[in-house]
Amino acid sequence: MRIAHISDLHFASLTTEDRAEYVEKFLWRAVPVGVAGAGGIAWLMRDPKRRKTVLDLVERVLFEKGKIRPAAIIAAVVLGLTGLGVGYVYRHAIMKLLVVLLYAEDSKIREFLLKDLVDKRPDHIVVSGDLTSIASDAEFQKAADFVRVLMAKLPNASITIVPGNHDLEDADAGSDKPKLHLFAKYLGASSDGGSFPSVRRFDGVTLVELRSPISLTNAGVSGALGSTQIKDLDDILGSQQHGAKVLVMHHHLKNPWKVGMQPLEDGKDLIALAKTHGVEVILHGHKHSVYKQVLNGVLVLCAGTTTLADSPVFRGHTKYWVLDFEDGRLVDRKPEPVTIKLPR
Ligand SMILES: [Fe+2]
Repeated sequence: MRIAHISDLHFASLTTEDRAEYVEKFLWRAVPVGVAGAGGIAWLMRDPKRRKTVLDLVERVLFEKGKIRPAAIIAAVVLGLTGLGVGYVYRHAIMKLLVVLLYAEDSKIREFLLKDLVDKRPDHIVVSGDLTSIASDAEFQKAADFVRVLMAKLPNASITIVPGNHDLEDADAGSDKPKLHLFAKYLGASSDGGSFPSVRRFDGVTLVELRSPISLTNAGVSGALGSTQIKDLDDILGSQQHGAKVLVMHHHLKNPWKVGMQPLEDGKDLIALAKTHGVEVILHGHKHSVYKQVLNGVLVLCAGTTTLADSPVFRGHTKYWVLDFEDGRLVDRKPEPVTIKLPR
């Protein structure tokens, strides 16, 4: 049984509506919390006329004839890399803009990933969230097309997709209404129409899908499973006597670095549960970098962002995980990620 694990594909689109939304979200997030400017942005955006004027103006600066201005890309890269501006929220806004600026046109990376995945002949593919950038219809359609093409080339394989925080974002900044219905409509077929936890059983492997983006406050970044999911998971794992137990969710459990996004709020509960029930491996995304951890004896693998990059733009490669299971165990308990070299 072979599982390929990819994550954070971050499809983006250049429809007029999506462009306006990218710009609006960028403005909301680019303004540091607590600074007088935040009030100014809020005042501008509250009125439909003022809002349109602002969006048109920013749009004119960033785009030219439906294409991104190269100067805007350079400025975003410089600001993002140097961390000019104020703190993490600002850099996150830059990152969001980079997603759109650099990848909206769908770079070749996805083609190489698709080819490599097909070559590896997995029995199952796991996508640990963030297939979209702002959870728009156009982005979901692109993601669904990618999945359709991939699965057509692997007719004997199946796929599991869990939602990331970007997949549940709402059109209105500050709203807490997640778009789970859109996720379920386009990508949720594998997860019982969007109900979690969801269980899938394969030859010697039990795979449990979890929904981690629950709190959409805090710029849509924070994640938790909640007591109901934890309890259901406990029951599911407890009733499973044989085979490898594999958990899939979007958020990370422990920051491998000192800075960055907050880990799953109830991650310690999850790790304790995983340890008790002998979970073989936990698969996640969210942190845009490929790494492995062993937490309380449990193997945890992050698939990074397979298309946006473990910065392939800068490093010329992307990575993901291919895991083989035999007799209910991982064959290699110290796996190394697959690396795809990208032509310059
Ligand atoms: Fe992401």
